[in-house]
Amino acid sequence: MSTFSILLALSITILLHLVQCHIIDGHSDLNLVELKLDQIALKQKLSRFRIYWHDIPTRNPPSSIPIVKPVTKTGFGQVNMIDNPLTLGPELSSKAVGKAQGFYGMASQEELGLLMAMNFFFTTGKYNGSTITILGRNVVFDRVREMPVIGGSGLFRWARGYVQARTHDFDLKSGAATVEYTIYVMHY
Ligand SMILES: *[C@@H]1O[C@H](CO)[C@@H](O)[C@H](O)[C@H]1NC(C)=O
Repeated sequence: MSTFSILLALSITILLHLVQCHIIDGHSDLNLVELKLDQIALKQKLSRFRIYWHDIPTRNPPSSIPIVKPVTKTGFGQVNMIDNPLTLGPELSSKAVGKAQGFYGMASQEELGLLMAMNFFFTTGKYNGSTITILGRNVVFDRVREMPVIGGSGLFRWARGYVQARTHDFDLKSGAATVEYTIYVMHY
């Protein structure tokens, strides 16, 4: 290699480095502060609990309302907005622990396969005001459906995990469903 090409390579390297530094410097516009993680990581917990989710389209007012009409006879395309009660036991009259707020949509053309997008908003004790966010695929007639917990707030800040949903009760006539949710969640 000639001295010239070595010098050329060197100046390109320096130039690239300068460009890179400039880009990294650009991030300081955010006043970004790096926090220490090690102390938080030590406090990580894995919690498991079980609650019941009640989808009641026929109550007055209903807890689950179709907001988008289906596009095919199979129901594909329908979207329901929900504000469903969450209780400790399977009976609607058992202790209320919060609400499941969000929506689900019929996302499969072949089966009753829902996209669930909802926040479990807790209203009891030290969990009052905390939430976990569930986003996943729910094939309603499967015995067990697993869906990811993708985040949380309050006591469930940094949450991740999964839920297992099992239908406890489904009334074909009214469409009312009670579903048992077992929640496994890592949080701090
Ligand atoms: C939960 O928090 C709300 C708002 O801060 C408060 O009004 C309510 O009384 C609390 N409920 C319980 C059961 O602590």
